[in-house]
Amino acid sequence: MYKILRRKQLNDTVVLLEIEAPFIAKKAKAGQFIILRIDEYGERMPLTIADTDPKKGSVTIIFQIVGQTTMILSKLNEGDALLDFVGPLGAATELDGVKKACVIGGGVGCAIAYPSAKALFNNGAKVDVIAGFRNKDIVILEDEFKDVCDNLYITTDDGSYGEQGFVTNKLQSLIDAGNDYDLVIAIGPVPMMKFVAKVTEPYNIKTLVSLNPIMIDGTGMCGGCRVTVDGKIKFACVDGPDFDGHKVDFDELMKRNSTYKEKEAHDKEHCRMYKMAGGDK
Ligand SMILES: Cc1cc2nc3c(=O)[nH]c(=O)nc-3n(C[C@H](O)[C@H](O)[C@H](O)COP(=O)(O)OP(=O)(O)OC[C@H]3O[C@@H](n4cnc5c(N)ncnc54)[C@H](O)[C@@H]3O)c2cc1C
Ligand code: FES
Repeated sequence: MYKILRRKQLNDTVVLLEIEAPFIAKKAKAGQFIILRIDEYGERMPLTIADTDPKKGSVTIIFQIVGQTTMILSKLNEGDALLDFVGPLGAATELDGVKKACVIGGGVGCAIAYPSAKALFNNGAKVDVIAGFRNKDIVILEDEFKDVCDNLYITTDDGSYGEQGFVTNKLQSLIDAGNDYDLVIAIGPVPMMKFVAKVTEPYNIKTLVSLNPIMIDGTGMCGGCRVTVDGKIKFACVDGPDFDGHKVDFDELMKRNSTYKEKEAHDKEHCRMYKMAGGDK
């Protein structure tokens, strides 16, 4: 069993859990993920390793409540335990030799982008971070990002905090101002990653995106996480989850991710815990 050492509510729908998992804490690198199961009846759920503390033997995960399993997970407390917590899975993000990077997170994607910003910064790279949110109420990880970058730019869609606009507007203005990034990392909703890749393409700036197809086994066996990159089939769980954003078929990914929408909506509708917690407010 994997004990919950710390629980922190980051905003109304985003929760941080620090889990006792010494082996994973020792081995994990930026970009990798775990698959957990809450109990023997639970679904397998992939979540990115947001942070590790090898000395303490702990792994931090940050997740948004979007359906049944994330809702049940959000109700656990310090001292509770998870049945399975498997990892580190996936390939680590390639960060060697990067001198100047712009790391972009959208919403809860900031939790996935954070370890890459931290690793780049610790490697001595200059790091700009653009963190985009719909509004001020859902801003997360502001202090944590400040510690691992040279410049933090927060954008909100409605202008209630930071600069008004999308992360793509800010990225374009930073490029226009002469920032010569050798790497852009974009992690967030699929349309956001698609449009970041469109901004960087004319400048030939290497752009990594972290893909989130539905995963089942996480070991390359089931084919559930199939994505098309540069016209070739890849499995995000073993070949990724990071891929060259200029080569990803984002439209196919969006289509495949909506395959189970009806079933997910049905499960949410019939999840008593989801309803008791107020459902989709
Ligand atoms: C490699 C990877 C890393 C991820 N890291 C994070 C993270 O750090 N924080 C975070 O909030 N979310 C992350 N996700 C997404 C997270 O796994 C889903 O939000 C979660 O599985 C939803 O489960 P649910 O039962 O609450 O919702 P459901 O109602 O079952 O599903 C809601 C949506 O979540 C996605 N989803 C559902 N099941 C899976 C699955 N088995 N695999 C992938 N996506 C699924 C689908 O887009 C679905 O439409 C990651 C996904 C992947 C593939
Ligand atoms: S999750 Fe099964 S092949 Fe990737």
